[in-house]
Amino acid sequence: MATSLRDTDDDLLDDTDTDSAVAVDAMELLQADHDEVKQMFEEYEGLMADEAGEDERQELATRICNALTVHATIEEEILYPAARGVPACERLVDEATVEHASAKALILEIESMSPSMPLFDAKVAVLGEYVSHHIDEEEEELLPQLANAGIDLDELGEELQDRKLELMEELGMEGES
Ligand SMILES: [Fe+2]
Ligand SMILES: [Fe+2]
Repeated sequence: MATSLRDTDDDLLDDTDTDSAVAVDAMELLQADHDEVKQMFEEYEGLMADEAGEDERQELATRICNALTVHATIEEEILYPAARGVPACERLVDEATVEHASAKALILEIESMSPSMPLFDAKVAVLGEYVSHHIDEEEEELLPQLANAGIDLDELGEELQDRKLELMEELGMEGES
């Protein structure tokens, strides 16, 4: 039916999305981040179960801390201020802010430690529990309220994505997004 709109696919591709990541709406971006982080915590549990070596645990813990730092920063700089404009979100944003502060304190501790130190694994595991609880609240309460409030999720997604890429570059992270 709509073939005439795309009679020359090559031309279409030449004009769009060649110099930036494909547009993604805010919900998709945040959920993909959440899924990625949850998967890394699961991987870490696997390393603990296998009694993996320090290098492997250090490398994954660093990736987890970096990913969470980037994610928390884009939420605090872009998502939460937008959500504060929605009355139904205000209490949720307050709680999320407090949860971020707890997680960040733990991230700082983990970043200053090495896997040979006592409680390193326990701190990563507890961070995983905090984050899992926090993600559930965002996905089940905050994000649905935002979606219902008529906020432009494409525009928000673009802002989140741009800032995410900038932060990843600052932290020397590879193109994981
Ligand atoms: Fe969050
Ligand atoms: Fe989040």
